[in-house]
Amino acid sequence: MNSNTRPLGVLAALPQELGDLIAAMQAESAVDKRTFGQRDYYVGTVHGVSCVVTLARVGKVAAAATASALIHAFDVEAIVFTGVAGGVGEEVHVGDVVVGETLLQHDMNAEPLFPRYEIPLLGRARFDADRALASALAAACERFVEEQGAALAARFKDALPRLAQALPRVHRGLVISGDQFVASAAAVGALREALPDALAVEMEGAAIAQVCFEYGVPCAVVRTISDTADEHASVSFSSFLTDIAGTYSSGILRQFLAAYGAAVR
Ligand code: ADE
Repeated sequence: MNSNTRPLGVLAALPQELGDLIAAMQAESAVDKRTFGQRDYYVGTVHGVSCVVTLARVGKVAAAATASALIHAFDVEAIVFTGVAGGVGEEVHVGDVVVGETLLQHDMNAEPLFPRYEIPLLGRARFDADRALASALAAACERFVEEQGAALAARFKDALPRLAQALPRVHRGLVISGDQFVASAAAVGALREALPDALAVEMEGAAIAQVCFEYGVPCAVVRTISDTADEHASVSFSSFLTDIAGTYSSGILRQFLAAYGAAVR
């Protein structure tokens, strides 16, 4: 029951990717909505945890600016980012979930001044998610799949026919971010070749991770795979976003926050 003294920041790029989180907060507590920098920040309690919930919008600048506001204006104790991503790893399928253990900006390239991917003057390319948060998120995903896997397969059988044979898998590892929607076999193939351990590609996570690293704020990223970043990506992404993304985010965040609230109580 709202015993974390500093709030947890929870955000996604697009409203569909937040699922029912703001509605759940409004049902559970008084909500203080604050608006600045063209973003709405919802401050209240959801699933027993004191949170600030907002939308970053799309891309690394938007994500970094929002993370910075969460840290400075709301003094969040940690940041959790949820949403969808394109699958890059060979074993990562639409409907699976990826928890970022490490994040990298795949479009950062200040060569020959600095090594490829390295953030100039920070001396690093890869940013680690907080281990405990990432483990708690992965455990929440596993519980979500265990409890909801059969219902997901039945409800989304046209969009996710694979679920009839196999439950969604929860992967942990490298998530890469850049200011591009990756939508061709050539583009995703190039990413796979350059970064063979990449599991998923999206447009915000590594920017959040960089800001959190700079300020010493723990962070974690969870992504449901909406497409495989090839020629079908935009169609797959759009249909996934309509319905499925919110169902996953709502279920995963519910599991995660309930456990987080129990742990800090
Ligand atoms: N988010 C979801 N799918 C994506 C893709 N293919 N590229 C970048 N970001 C994404």
